[in-house]
Amino acid sequence: MHHFQYKQDELYCEDVPVRRIAEEIGTPCYIYSLATLRHHFLTFDSAFTDARHLTCYSAKANSNIAILKLFGSMGGGVDIVSGGELYRALKAQVPSNRIVYSGVGKTVEEIDFALREKILMFNIESTQELEQINRRAEAMNTRAAVSVRVNPDIDPNTHPYISTGMKRNKFGISTDIVMQAFEDAKNLKNVDMIGLDCHIGSQLTDVTPFVDALKRLRALIERLRQRGADIRYLDLGGGLGIVYDQEAPPQPHEYARALLRELQDINCTLIFEPGRVIVGNAGIFVTRVLYTKRTPVKNFVITDGGMNDLIRPSLYGSYHYVQPVARNLQETEIVDVVGPICESGDFLARDRDLPLSSQGDYLAVMSAGAYGFSMSSNYNSRRRAPEVLVTGGDYFVIRRRETWEDLVGSETLPDFLEGGLQ
Ligand code: LLP
Repeated sequence: MHHFQYKQDELYCEDVPVRRIAEEIGTPCYIYSLATLRHHFLTFDSAFTDARHLTCYSAKANSNIAILKLFGSMGGGVDIVSGGELYRALKAQVPSNRIVYSGVGKTVEEIDFALREKILMFNIESTQELEQINRRAEAMNTRAAVSVRVNPDIDPNTHPYISTGMKRNKFGISTDIVMQAFEDAKNLKNVDMIGLDCHIGSQLTDVTPFVDALKRLRALIERLRQRGADIRYLDLGGGLGIVYDQEAPPQPHEYARALLRELQDINCTLIFEPGRVIVGNAGIFVTRVLYTKRTPVKNFVITDGGMNDLIRPSLYGSYHYVQPVARNLQETEIVDVVGPICESGDFLARDRDLPLSSQGDYLAVMSAGAYGFSMSSNYNSRRRAPEVLVTGGDYFVIRRRETWEDLVGSETLPDFLEGGLQ
């Protein structure tokens, strides 16, 4: 469910014509619907009302501080993977005791920052990291709450780049050494081992891998408790898929029902780290047709948005539905929608049957709210696009378009080049 619909033949975000935003703010741009964001967060969170739980929105999916602030004010926490995301979450006034920190490569600087801010817990991904956190906590005369991220060796049946819970993946600690890690942690004086965590992958369209992973974690919790561990939290990560094309992912209530069935009497606070399912279909990417070009083998629609703005098609071969902002139900043609970047891998859609496009038309690339702007870059020295939040009949720019000055603002010329080489 989302709030991007045609009224007559104009695409609207809630009550605002997408064309109006495109004309006033310029393209390319990202547009998010507040009503959709709220609806998705509530739908997910309320699916677990029967269980003690905390929904920690995964900031990496879309880390704009307005979005973080929205979910924080709806009672959510945040799942972070870097000091930068911690900084954002705090800027958005998310209480630090609702922040969980995953990631295989936390630096000392980042660990210290998180310790200072007293986050809810670290999800540790190696025994060396655990020792490092213990040392830093000791140096800072504090204690760190720790969950162990387990690698349950489950195939989530998704794109290999976003599968994270298989033995060959870099994430988590394999089940056979989790017991030992808890045993060894008894000698670490500044960590409290309070939970288990797992995240097996993203864009999962079936509940079975989630349930299989949960069963492994549940068995581990029982063994750990028998050995005296005080497991109070179980973090099941994110990963629930959305509809981009023809997928039929479980609805949050179906996902919740399948998990809760396995969680009877677990006596843990549950943590979830959903990203995509909350923001994915709450955002679109809007781009303008610069040129059309016909060749004997392909028809190209060349747009002002490219792989630096939305890299998912290029990086994962992902499908995003593309539709015109002004619908004209006439002739269609098979086209590649491509950007202006100097790479043949720069495409938004390939071999799509789209209504004939003309110069100046706007196209909406759907389901771009997750891993869209947050993965964008300045490649080809392109300014990153603005982000707009719509609510009812109003819209707000929550991130302005970068300027050319922004592009070079943090660069410096070394003295020896100031006057040119002698
Ligand atoms: N928790 C952890 C530890 C994660 O690594 C992730 C995503 C999530 C939660 C949130 O997963 P979600 O609910 O959004 O599936 N850039 C890729 C997706 C990368 C996901 C990385 N980790 C894409 O565009 O498909």
